Amino acid sequence: MKKILVVQSSARQDGSLTREYTAQLVNQIQAANPGSWVVTRDLGAEPVPHLDSSLLGGWMKPTDEQTDAEKDAAARSDILIDELLASDIVVIGSSMYNFGIASTLKSWFDHVLRAGRTFKYTENGPVGLTEDRKVYVVTARGGRYAGTSIDFQEPYVRQLLGFIGIKDVEFINVEGQALGPEEAAKGRAEAEEVLAAIV
Ligand SMILES: Cc1cc2nc3c(=O)[nH]c(=O)nc-3n(C[C@H](O)[C@H](O)[C@H](O)COP(=O)(O)O)c2cc1C
Repeated sequence: MKKILVVQSSARQDGSLTREYTAQLVNQIQAANPGSWVVTRDLGAEPVPHLDSSLLGGWMKPTDEQTDAEKDAAARSDILIDELLASDIVVIGSSMYNFGIASTLKSWFDHVLRAGRTFKYTENGPVGLTEDRKVYVVTARGGRYAGTSIDFQEPYVRQLLGFIGIKDVEFINVEGQALGPEEAAKGRAEAEEVLAAIV
């Protein structure tokens, strides 16, 4: 039995490859781990707010000095962190937008990378506090970037996750989707091969 957190960031509900392949992966994980349950955080449907002064106030001011807006902002951010900390497995759908991750996914990371909850500062620098979980990241891209110096998506997401202690990260990249039917089919077939080897 696994607790699976699914984080979706495609702006589209219909025709989204990250949604299609994350669903397939979640089915596989559930089939291999009967009784597993899923919590979905759909950032495409309901984006979380950007970092603003209310959230920073909610994080940094003592509770008795916080405004209602700062308390509300901190509480919203707590929910996202609680969802992450409750999970054994995280499945992230990450559409490539303008060479990187969706701004909605960046916002989610801005909420969940929080000192004292998901990492802490020590004499030897920051240490992650959320290491005990596996993360799968399903990306979809119009072009081909995996393994090149202009793949800013995978190394960046690995860095963000690594900062909070998560090193067990596997990528499933659906590439070449805007390079014509043959390349698109090849990109899908490659992703399906990687998926088939998982779980
Ligand atoms: C606003 C926007 C920006 C995009 N930027 C890129 C890009 O920089 N590089 C790329 O290869 N594909 C880019 N794409 C194509 C998407 O990565 C591709 O359509 C992908 O399948 C989107 O994920 P989804 O299918 O889950 O919605 C972009 C698409 C949109 C809508």
